[in-house]
Amino acid sequence: MARKNVAAGNWKMNTNISQGIELAQTISNAGRDKEVLVILAVPFTHIFALQKKVKTSSKVILAAQTCHHKTSGAYTGEISPTMLADMKVPYVVLGHSERREYNHENNSLLAAKLRAALDAGLKVIFCCGESLEIRKAGTHISYVKTQLTESLFQLDAQEMKNIVIAYEPIWAIGTGETASPVQAQDMHAAIRDMLRKKYGKRVADNTSILYGGSVKGSNAKELFGQADVDGGLVGGASLNGQEFVQIINSF
Ligand code: PGA
Repeated sequence: MARKNVAAGNWKMNTNISQGIELAQTISNAGRDKEVLVILAVPFTHIFALQKKVKTSSKVILAAQTCHHKTSGAYTGEISPTMLADMKVPYVVLGHSERREYNHENNSLLAAKLRAALDAGLKVIFCCGESLEIRKAGTHISYVKTQLTESLFQLDAQEMKNIVIAYEPIWAIGTGETASPVQAQDMHAAIRDMLRKKYGKRVADNTSILYGGSVKGSNAKELFGQADVDGGLVGGASLNGQEFVQIINSF
């Protein structure tokens, strides 16, 4: 089985529920040129309404943007992976750089979250990526390798079929500055090589690796055209229905 093309929208802390419904309907009603798995990572508060109001199919599915690493307990304000599974949310995003930065999520906490999410039966979009400082120092590949080694690579080969990796250089997120197609391809090829060394060719060939960081309607085609770029995790541009549809049709 070849790996899937994936277009994932990360709405972050944006939209009210009616805006979210309208946005998701625009996306789910649009025609598709190719087989693409579309995942919408929405605020927790929107999940129930979107499940009721939007024609979801195997082609448009929902994700939560994070979850806790415990299944229940005295953790005020948190949502557990079992709660998401109970709501039949198929995916959760873990390791986004904004969570790493603002919520101090480090690699070992993310390893615990991955474990809990998979144990609950969720699939995971797992994010990694370096800061501008690290990119300038030229140590970005080893930095990402450490991120993956200390978290994602705690999983076994069988579990990797539930993982989509998103490479998101922090310097390109929300800045309008996109990694060049060559920069994206170089990192994606390096990640695939890490997967090959850790898990073998089958896992490496079957794991979708998404690029994230100022993906737009105007640059998606070139990025997705790279051999090891299997799609995108899209923030800002996923809030515009027409533009996100254009991105979905960029494969
Ligand atoms: P951006 O965000 O597309 O707005 O750069 C990407 C992300 O944070 O997932």
